[in-house]
Amino acid sequence: MGWPSAVGPTDKPSSFLKKLQQGHPLPTPTANSIVALMDQNLWTAVDQYLADHLVTPDAHLDQALAANATAGLPSIDVSPTQGKFLHLIARIHGARRVLEIGTLGGYSTLWLARALPPDGQLVTLELNPKHAVVAASNLQRAGLSSLVEIRVGPALDSLASLHAEHPEPFDLIFIDADKPNNPNYLDWALKLARPGTVILTDNVIRDGAIIRSDSTDPSVLGTRALFDKIAAHPRLDATAIQTVGVKGYDGFALAIVKP
Ligand SMILES: C[S@@+](CC[C@H](N)C(=O)[O-])C[C@H]1O[C@@H](n2cnc3c(N)ncnc32)[C@H](O)[C@@H]1O
Repeated sequence: MGWPSAVGPTDKPSSFLKKLQQGHPLPTPTANSIVALMDQNLWTAVDQYLADHLVTPDAHLDQALAANATAGLPSIDVSPTQGKFLHLIARIHGARRVLEIGTLGGYSTLWLARALPPDGQLVTLELNPKHAVVAASNLQRAGLSSLVEIRVGPALDSLASLHAEHPEPFDLIFIDADKPNNPNYLDWALKLARPGTVILTDNVIRDGAIIRSDSTDPSVLGTRALFDKIAAHPRLDATAIQTVGVKGYDGFALAIVKP
């Protein structure tokens, strides 16, 4: 009987994790094999491990993802570990009022709304009426409808109407819609913020394409313009974190509005 064979980058994520747990070794760590292993299978397996340990199984969150899939929504919501990350940031910050730009089926909305106190409010903006209907149903099933208002239409229009209503400033703003508009969303976020407001933007790394100054991809261009704007803005202090996981290689920008 020989040693168990080494796990490899071609293993499916589930068998990759299972084999590691059964004691199958990683391949001899040459530079090439380490690079080869740092691929989607490993990121997914580690994300599953983290979710298994840190994200309590939750029927409403699972049902929301299932309902999104049944309705044919794209699977571009945040991952469970990322949703928990957003939830914890909102709780750590003591957020009472949250603005979300880009609802989809409301998966991140559920995570954020659950961080709110009973008198909290979350306003989420969605272009696609079909997405909004699915999100509303997911939020209702989770008992969160009273905390969440979904506004349907182009977010730039919704933001202008919202601003005209002179709302109480938002404590946390999550930007996750059409990426070419990221710099415009940041402008609106600042108008709807107060000193101390946290502004999070998703998908700012884009498989590393963010560093490509020759990119013609509108999402990369929009996100590069976002970073330029954040970096030059006198009212913002910010960082960004690269992430890997079930959703691939991407990241969040995190900014706070200065006093
Ligand atoms: C990445 S998804 C949002 C994912 C969601 N935040 C989550 O993690 O569950 C982006 C959403 O933004 C919406 N969207 C795209 N362009 C928009 C616009 N101009 N105004 C408002 N929403 C828009 C899309 O229809 C899509 O549902």
